[in-house]
Amino acid sequence: QAFFKPISNAEPPSPTKRHTKITVVGVGNVGMAIAQTILTQDLADELALVDANADKLQGEMLDLQHAAAFLPRTKIQASLDYEITAGSDLCIITAGARQIPGESRLNLIQRNLSLFKSIVPPLAKYSPESILLVVSNPVDVLTYVAWKLSGFPANRVIGSGTNLDSSRFRFLIADHLDVNAQDVQAYIVGEHGDSSVALWSSISVGGVPVLSFLKRQQIVYEKETLENIHKEVVQGAYEVIRLKGYTSWAIGYSVASLARTILRNQRKIHPVSVLANGFYDIDGGDVFISLPAQLGRSGVLGVTNVHLTDEEALQLRNSAKAILEIQSELAI
Ligand code: NAI
Ligand code: 2OP
Repeated sequence: QAFFKPISNAEPPSPTKRHTKITVVGVGNVGMAIAQTILTQDLADELALVDANADKLQGEMLDLQHAAAFLPRTKIQASLDYEITAGSDLCIITAGARQIPGESRLNLIQRNLSLFKSIVPPLAKYSPESILLVVSNPVDVLTYVAWKLSGFPANRVIGSGTNLDSSRFRFLIADHLDVNAQDVQAYIVGEHGDSSVALWSSISVGGVPVLSFLKRQQIVYEKETLENIHKEVVQGAYEVIRLKGYTSWAIGYSVASLARTILRNQRKIHPVSVLANGFYDIDGGDVFISLPAQLGRSGVLGVTNVHLTDEEALQLRNSAKAILEIQSELAI
């Protein structure tokens, strides 16, 4: 006998209400920060967790399930077997080696490439219509790898890219000008990492273009001050890793913001890693780097045509070149 007596004339579920399933592969610092942000923000009806470490996986699943009384209702499951991910709308990959203090993201490629060969094909098999969102580092190269291994169209393979770096950038600018970071429109594009590019020429605060405002007011700003803010963005992750061993909270919120835009079809613009050749005169082969992209339920909807100065465009093409160089040495 059912616990609840059903209402005989209950309406069938509304066709506009979709059941949403998210998979997170890798339940380390990053995977768990993402999982818990997804849960608190009520972004999924089902959350499937996969990892290679059975005890850690089971422990993390139970720990999250035990918060059920304090969270929106989400069915949480975990398994070593990818069958559990079947029918996911969004698959987020966070598994893999992370940097030790001082190590670059690009240095992780060989270790994480071999893991991706065992992760991406089963995800693609069990959720052929899903969107793949790559977080593991080096994220731009691994997004390319995930695209190749999945056989998915490029609009359904996205790297979390500089969505995070841009938040660091907006935080630092907001701090400098004593305003709210959400009022700061500012993008970091290119590699999520050392060759990232700050788009100073397009920064605005509350709709006011910052550099032309400063020029009009004849306020002298030092190029060095701007460069230092960008340096702080690039060094930010190294500093957190030096201090606490890994980064987690900011990437958790960053990826949850992407999940929300994608699954709720928000058509918001995020700087994320997308197939970039052909945009902004980027050439030399298939390369994923971050550009301001409009995202929605079908993945990447388009790339925004932000005005770049000649210097910014050159830096962006150099960033793409750095990624292409690493890719040319890979056996996928
Ligand atoms: P972690 O060491 O805490 O977790 C990694 C997890 O991957 C572990 O639970 C491990 O058991 C699992 N794993 C290893 N091999 C696996 C396999 N074959 N299949 C399934 N799971 C497997 O590392 P953390 O701190 O969570 O970082 C994970 C990745 O995320 C790193 O590559 C790191 O560099 C990257 N990262 C990327 C960011 C971004 O902005 N794109 C931000 C922060 C970290
Ligand atoms: C971050 O930027 C390490 O990629 C990682 O936090």
